[in-house]
Amino acid sequence: IGTRITCLQEVDSTNLVAYRLAEQGAVEGTIVIADHQTGGKGRLGRRWESPAGVNLYCSVILRPQILPLYAPQLTFVSSVAVVDAILRTTNLQPVIKWPNDVLVNGQKVAGLLNEMSAETERVDFLVLGIGVNINMNREQFPVDLRHPATSLAIEAGRKIDRLQFARVLLESLDALYAAYLAEGYEPLRRRWLAHSAVMGRTVRVTSGENVVVGVVEGIDEHGGLVLSCAGGRHERVLAGDVAICNE
Ligand code: BTN
Repeated sequence: IGTRITCLQEVDSTNLVAYRLAEQGAVEGTIVIADHQTGGKGRLGRRWESPAGVNLYCSVILRPQILPLYAPQLTFVSSVAVVDAILRTTNLQPVIKWPNDVLVNGQKVAGLLNEMSAETERVDFLVLGIGVNINMNREQFPVDLRHPATSLAIEAGRKIDRLQFARVLLESLDALYAAYLAEGYEPLRRRWLAHSAVMGRTVRVTSGENVVVGVVEGIDEHGGLVLSCAGGRHERVLAGDVAICNE
């Protein structure tokens, strides 16, 4: 990962640029990084706040030989890599909230957005989009954010070297992806669970009109969240917003 890196000053979205490059045949491991995004994309059609000069916005092209239904496993490569990079560059304690938010002190510092091009039997390519709030200050966050957000600098109380963070993150991504290809999903799932903020907690998952409440038992091989609900029923959710309930 990172043998080819396209660095851009300003883009609409690094995911869109990477997706176009992948369609034109860009090799596995190609990375697009930008200083500023004018149309940063979040999950569920939301916007990702992407001011210039302070954060990391990057997208990685992967071409794993897997069935499309296993593609969500690869999101965990990026969330574990972000956790790893934060642990290696700061003294903060990050956790992962399913599916892929990385939180520090209960507030979101990073978001991940994976996009896929696939036929029924085969993944053509995946784009892993990674956004990390690094040196953004309080005034740069919009007031109406859905979830409380923060940056590494706010939480660590010092400026973080963006380039060094990017380097460490790419190293982690590379090692985790290589391990995934060699050993499969299980070791990655274990690492994800070890950093999970939701494991064993009671959560409320909202997806449109649908609300499921239960205790988190783990994640399955399709990236779904497995919950134990009232009456001993087990439920699996594949998408939605998780709120951790006070116990
Ligand atoms: C989320 O939590 O909603 C996901 C946010 C993902 C943001 C990153 S920034 C780099 C890449 N390009 C985008 O347009 N989005 C992702």
